[in-house]
Amino acid sequence: PINIEFGQEAQTAAAQKLKIGLYFAIWWALNVVFNIYNKKVLNAFPFPWLTSTLSLAAGSLMMLVSWVTKIAEAPKTDFAFWKALFPVAVAHTIGHVAATVSMSKVAVSFTHIIKSGEPAFSVLVSRLLGETFPLPVYLSLLPIIGGCGLAAITELNFNLTGFMGAMISNLAFVFRNIFSKKGMKGNSAGGMNYYACLSMMSLFILTPFAIAMEGPQVWALGWQNAVSQIGPNFIWWVVAQSVFYHLYNQVSYMSLNEISPLTFSIGNTMKRISVIVSSIIIFQIPIQPVNALGAAIAILGTFLYSQKIAELKMDLLQDICSSFKRW
Ligand code: 3PG
Repeated sequence: PINIEFGQEAQTAAAQKLKIGLYFAIWWALNVVFNIYNKKVLNAFPFPWLTSTLSLAAGSLMMLVSWVTKIAEAPKTDFAFWKALFPVAVAHTIGHVAATVSMSKVAVSFTHIIKSGEPAFSVLVSRLLGETFPLPVYLSLLPIIGGCGLAAITELNFNLTGFMGAMISNLAFVFRNIFSKKGMKGNSAGGMNYYACLSMMSLFILTPFAIAMEGPQVWALGWQNAVSQIGPNFIWWVVAQSVFYHLYNQVSYMSLNEISPLTFSIGNTMKRISVIVSSIIIFQIPIQPVNALGAAIAILGTFLYSQKIAELKMDLLQDICSSFKRW
């Protein structure tokens, strides 16, 4: 019977690994499609506040329809749930709009190179919240910061708003991930419905700001311009960027629900490699060797950092195990 139990456990663990692997592959593929259509739209229609709002609106609508038609079961929420969701939604809104503004100003690859520095921000925020790490963790941040810095100063199309947008997005998403993981722990909503509620609340927060920052008049003019440039198919580009934004985030939240924030951030960095490479090929972005070197150092730095954090967790685990043994 013990062997059977072990066999079953191994099977469950393998099935779980397969499921996470599948989530990751779908997440990255959907993200690449989103990034391509988002940039195509922004090139012809440079209104990032509206495109960010449309992404949230598409997700909210899709989820409302799924609930009404019972394709997905609607979550049971109360006031406390929405109250706890509010800071997550604020961070999600800021991180989303800042990244989109960044991508409207610079190459998609550049935004994602800077966004690969997200782990450095997570250490900074944890430090501010009072958590300290051993020296090797801080040292492992140096290649991330150095690599991002090198990529930034050698970027052919450098733009300060583009750079700052990606930096602000990093900071906001660190808070979003910390609050989300905490928020998801205590409720039964599940990753998919949790992200659906997050989209709805973010849409509510972002809409008045989008109107104030850009507004219907410039949108109407910009739309006419884009349609005359691209043709009537332009609307499908907007639909694609909006729908794929929701889908990739939904899948990423479904995986965040099952894994630690650390595994999530490693998955997210690997995702950026596929986005950087595919956008360089599709948009034929000119890059200098030193610029590519900076990106490679930054991404390698993220792996080193993840390794350090993972070791730290292992040490902690070993400490706990040996105290148990002593006890
Ligand atoms: C956004 O618009 O929210 C960004 O493109 C998201 O970036 P990320 O999900 O790749 O961090």
